[in-house]
Amino acid sequence: MRIQAAVLRDTAKPFAVEDVHLHDPGPGEALVRVAGAGLCHTDVVFRAFPQLPMPMIFGHEGSGVVEAVGPGTSRVKPGDHVVMSFDSCGWCVQCVTGAPAYCAEFMTRNLSGTRVDGSSGATDLAGAPVAARWFGQSSLATHAVATERNLVVVDPSLPLDLLGPLGCGLQTGAGAVLNSLPVRPGDGVAVFGAGAVGLAAVMAARVAGASDIVAVDLHASRRDLALELGATRALDGADPELAAQVGQVEHSFDTTGVSAVMATAVSVLKVGGTCGLVGAGGGDLTLSPLALAGRGVRYIFEGDAVPQRFIPRLIALWQQGRFPFERLIRTYPLADVDAAERDSAAGGTVKPVLLP
Ligand SMILES: NC(=O)c1ccc[n+]([C@@H]2O[C@H](COP(=O)([O-])OP(=O)(O)OC[C@H]3O[C@@H](n4cnc5c(N)ncnc54)[C@H](O)[C@@H]3O)[C@@H](O)[C@H]2O)c1
Ligand SMILES: [Zn+2]
Ligand SMILES: [Zn+2]
Repeated sequence: MRIQAAVLRDTAKPFAVEDVHLHDPGPGEALVRVAGAGLCHTDVVFRAFPQLPMPMIFGHEGSGVVEAVGPGTSRVKPGDHVVMSFDSCGWCVQCVTGAPAYCAEFMTRNLSGTRVDGSSGATDLAGAPVAARWFGQSSLATHAVATERNLVVVDPSLPLDLLGPLGCGLQTGAGAVLNSLPVRPGDGVAVFGAGAVGLAAVMAARVAGASDIVAVDLHASRRDLALELGATRALDGADPELAAQVGQVEHSFDTTGVSAVMATAVSVLKVGGTCGLVGAGGGDLTLSPLALAGRGVRYIFEGDAVPQRFIPRLIALWQQGRFPFERLIRTYPLADVDAAERDSAAGGTVKPVLLP
């Protein structure tokens, strides 16, 4: 079918909204009319990767309504309201033991931009392939085709257009705190980077009953928001005495991906503590072996979430007023995707959501 999508044709150029032909859903797939799609920092990082197939449709925090299903698709049906999360195979050891974020096919299914068989999923009006399976969805568009495994059915009474970020950034930050580390009542936790992932971690740390919740960021506006969302202290990432200011905590969580910040995040751990990492691209983590004496570091995908179990849990917390993620969101028309990207890079918008 003919749809509109924000297509990236060249890493150096802005997105352009254009008409493309989206292919019909195949076996195990569903066509979703997109209600909203969050822009995650991962879209911004990878849009500069020349290895990715271009042209490509980005967007991996979509929500919408199922319009049609492919052959054999049984878990969702037309009319269902869904959040689109990351894709996984369902058969590998990690998938069958409840760790789909470490699926053996994670990279192919989420970061190649195409289907596992290499097909693009869409073509432009001249007939050339357009990669339309980024994170199994490519949802910066009016419609997306996803697999039934990366769909989470939600209650139709919820504000569907705002739910997409639960599928990646929000579940990553909240899941790191509630599933991966996990933070327990009375613990101290330091969150480096108060963007969407870091602020989700702050809200989750409060849910977990942490007593000392330290948020670190370069932007004063994001530090202020962190304090409103549950941080007990907010510190300037540019402070040369930052590590001393943080003190010692049971858990640290880096969302900046900056090598020096990750090393600081390890240095503030008490013995027995663990540092979770989710960012990348800002250099390697270099540590003295002794920095890890009795401490741990791990890289976390998608907050160790099983989306079908964890996203409903985050929605329940939101309904109780304990996970007010709507405070991070600013909506934009899909055509303004470049403005949304600029506003988020400048710090003013935490989580842009594009409305087709
Ligand atoms: N591993 C995963 O599964 C996963 C999932 C989603 C996002 N991510 C990654 O997580 C990271 C965070 O995503 P986001 O959407 O929250 O991005 P974001 O850009 O909104 O947030 C990053 C924050 O870090 C702050 N920051 C940068 N340098 C800093 C410094 N030196 N000191 C203190 N703060 C600093 C920025 O001001 C910003 O607020 C990105 O790298 C993204 O690619 C990983
Ligand atoms: Zn798998
Ligand atoms: Zn993401």
